[in-house]
Amino acid sequence: MKREEGRRYCLPPNVAFACPDRPSLRKESTMLDLSPRPGDLEPIETASRDELSAVQFERLKWTLRHAYENVPHYRAKFAAAGVHPDDLKTLADLGKFPFTTKQDLRDTYPFGMFAVPQSQVLRVHASSGTTGRPTVVGYSKADIDMWADVMARSMRAAGARPGMKVHVSYGYGLFTGGLGAHYGAERLGCTVIPVSGGMTERQVQLMRDFQPDVIMVTPSYMLALLDEFRRIKVDARTCSLKVGMFGAEPWTNAMRHEIEEAFDMHAIDVYGLSEVIGPGVANECVETKDGLHVWEDHFYPEIIDPVTGAVLPDGEFGELVFTSLTKEAMPIIRYRTRDLSRLLPGTARSMRRMEKVSGRSDDMIILRGVNVFPSQIEEQILKCSGLAPHYVIELGREGRLDTMSVLVEARPEATDAAVRATQAKELMHHVKAVVGVSVRVNVVDPNSIERSIGKAKRVLDMRPRE
Ligand code: DLL
Repeated sequence: MKREEGRRYCLPPNVAFACPDRPSLRKESTMLDLSPRPGDLEPIETASRDELSAVQFERLKWTLRHAYENVPHYRAKFAAAGVHPDDLKTLADLGKFPFTTKQDLRDTYPFGMFAVPQSQVLRVHASSGTTGRPTVVGYSKADIDMWADVMARSMRAAGARPGMKVHVSYGYGLFTGGLGAHYGAERLGCTVIPVSGGMTERQVQLMRDFQPDVIMVTPSYMLALLDEFRRIKVDARTCSLKVGMFGAEPWTNAMRHEIEEAFDMHAIDVYGLSEVIGPGVANECVETKDGLHVWEDHFYPEIIDPVTGAVLPDGEFGELVFTSLTKEAMPIIRYRTRDLSRLLPGTARSMRRMEKVSGRSDDMIILRGVNVFPSQIEEQILKCSGLAPHYVIELGREGRLDTMSVLVEARPEATDAAVRATQAKELMHHVKAVVGVSVRVNVVDPNSIERSIGKAKRVLDMRPRE
């Protein structure tokens, strides 16, 4: 299949990084202008909607045919739904095709969704399978190449430039985070420091020794790194980082503010999922930080009503669904992500944006009839000056009623019992006023909530199984 010859980005690091005349203000990264300069972008990033739609339509036709002809599971599903790839006359006709879910990947475990012979599969990744059979995904040589391209594009959007040093703390291995970030950074022309997750003390030592410009890590693990800076009494604002690319789990704008303040760096959202490719499906632009531009030339987004499956117009909230447009080894048709968001028009790029993911439909807590997402609680915690962004939500049951308790750490300077009590009250008030539910709050000692080295587990469901 033909792909546009994207321009390679071989520009020197943005000179705006250096502040030679203000040595004492070496950084102030959140003030640095990292917007792309003319010629930085690939032509497709500034293409008109019509040009983009034409590319999408051609690629979608190819993808549907490729899946139909080479994956018996898709052929059977299309037949059962009474559709054929030839039924695609416009992009909107995609809505006639059946969804793919995690269950389809489980049913065909391990390699049944692959559309090329195994000899052409260069790599596999897999989910941990903690909630059932793992799901396996495969990549051809061209897929790995495309993934490196979209990750390089994502990193450039985040403010990374060739020649920068990139510290990767996403886990390497079957998880797509580490290797996805790694290949993207290499493709952009950066120096990669492939640390992977864990060994927090060592991570911080390496950061102090190697002076990376960019870090790629889950937002929750970034907070664990911050703990370590504090433990060794080094002000994290003096570290070399200018940009962090945070994803793999939901995080709020309040958390962005927290991280940007603590590290004096830009905190940028990167989104993706293994079934679609890994990290690099969508990314925020540093110059706008207003949601994530979906790399629509490779991944076609839809928003659906999670209950009826109906396609919703742009601007409405619902579940994100993605169809790959260029993947060879494992084309994915209308994959239901369970992630809740909405599609918005492009700003810094012409491709559409997805709003920051507010949560997964499977993480939604229904508490006495009110829908609650952990991210809503996080937002309220960060409004309370004495509370740290380390928290766990415990669900319990008393009689016939479900209960929700928030365990949240006090900030080190706010451990006095009276201050804690006031903070607990304040949080209860905010949650009641904004989210609409009554919760219990238990303010605990700093460093008493377990830190994650990858994706944080925010909800502990202690309700008895029915
Ligand atoms: O988490 C890929 C990734 C790695 C993305 C590193 C970004 C950075 P999976 O393990 O398959 O892949 O998990 C995918 O993680 O459906 C979302 O629920 C969640 N997720 C990923 N990025 C974000 C984000 C990787 N930026 C699942 N905001 C997705 C919110 C995210 N949730």
